[in-house]
Amino acid sequence: VKILLKNGEVASSQGTNKVDVLIEDGKIVKVSDEIEQDGVEVIDCSEKLILPGAIDVHVHFREPGESYKEDWESGSSAAAAGGVTTVFDMPNNKPPIVTLEALEKKREIIKGRSYVNYGLYMGFNGKNLDEVNKAKGIAGVKMYCAHSTGGMGVGEKDIEKLIAGVAEDKHVVVHAEDEACIDKLRKEYLVEFEGREKEIPVSLHSKIRSKECGVKMVEHICELAKKYQQPVHICHVSSEEELDVISRYREFGVTCEVCPHHLSFSVDDYEYYGAFIKMNPPVRDKMDVFGLWKSLKMGMVDVIATDHAPHAIVEKELPGLEPPSGVPGVEMMLPIMLHGVNNDALEIGEVVWLCSENPARLWGLNSKGKVEEGFDADVVVVDMEIERKFDREDVVSKCKWSPYAGGTYQGWPIVTIVGGEVVFRDGKIVGTARGEEVF
Ligand code: DOR
Ligand code: ZN
Repeated sequence: VKILLKNGEVASSQGTNKVDVLIEDGKIVKVSDEIEQDGVEVIDCSEKLILPGAIDVHVHFREPGESYKEDWESGSSAAAAGGVTTVFDMPNNKPPIVTLEALEKKREIIKGRSYVNYGLYMGFNGKNLDEVNKAKGIAGVKMYCAHSTGGMGVGEKDIEKLIAGVAEDKHVVVHAEDEACIDKLRKEYLVEFEGREKEIPVSLHSKIRSKECGVKMVEHICELAKKYQQPVHICHVSSEEELDVISRYREFGVTCEVCPHHLSFSVDDYEYYGAFIKMNPPVRDKMDVFGLWKSLKMGMVDVIATDHAPHAIVEKELPGLEPPSGVPGVEMMLPIMLHGVNNDALEIGEVVWLCSENPARLWGLNSKGKVEEGFDADVVVVDMEIERKFDREDVVSKCKWSPYAGGTYQGWPIVTIVGGEVVFRDGKIVGTARGEEVF
């Protein structure tokens, strides 16, 4: 297939440039003024921006084991619809991906079913360091320092074990909340609800899994990164305090991600959304949301990632603190960021850096993250003018709900190209599931 993107403006971290883009055999083969070529499909991109497809380093597509919440066709369709052309999937499946055998089985399950490119993480459970170190072709190894959905939290001593002994070629990514700190607060806050757990207000979730418990573990992880000279990526940072800590450990290779939901919701929103904004780490105060936007602007955040974590509506409607933590988001990451650009919160170049260029750079995907000659043809065409309300009926994810539903956003993906083929266009998935494993 040959595709010519005509009359658009290519965006990179350096700004925008009015050039045509020629795509052939899955690659970007030419980027220059006024390309004319016969025998190609021409996509008119006048008044549109051409971005490198977003790379979401943190999703949960729920296979194997929980395909009623999401499966690879639905999850990767949601990604494609949102202009995300590569995803890295987490290991908290059923069974958890903590053995090489489970990893291979997962690979088999996914093969030929993904509309976008993908990488897979393996999970560390405190006992499988050897197997983790032997794994080939993975996005990295995930460690949960506290229990979250999937119950993969590891004990205090095991945290150090991984950072001390992980193989050099492995990317370590960490869920940094302090379990003991959370347990203590849980006891304090919940004692008065003994015997009437169903009455616990869901807003207590943010008090129990407090910001301080997050900061505490981020500090610990950073110290370990320094002690063992081991780079670590901290997932879903929810406050400026955590970013302040991280900024002091940059030289030891500590990096971090921020999620759209922490940029969108605060504890004030529990009243309206209830458990539909319950996630780990939880939403924080309004000032923290503001602080995260400010930190993005200041360059203190490495990547935006969604932690796309769908659950069934019936599960989210359970009483008290019973609803599982997690919200979907992969299809709304770019619209939220583009809306931010339209409202002067960020420049388009900053969005490309956070969503495409830097994730590609940090994970060593040298042929992704830029619209340049020789790069993979993972591209998204966006229309910065379209202003549209996102309704529940629009949700592509199998969970069929979204905390962003009801909101109006300006700036939307209109064409998504994965490996040189159009997979999403004018609101519909049109291609075949040709996504490839990238590591
Ligand atoms: O909110 C969350 N949901 N946080 C996690 O750590 C896991 C995720 C999930 O898998 O549902
Ligand atoms: Zn997650």
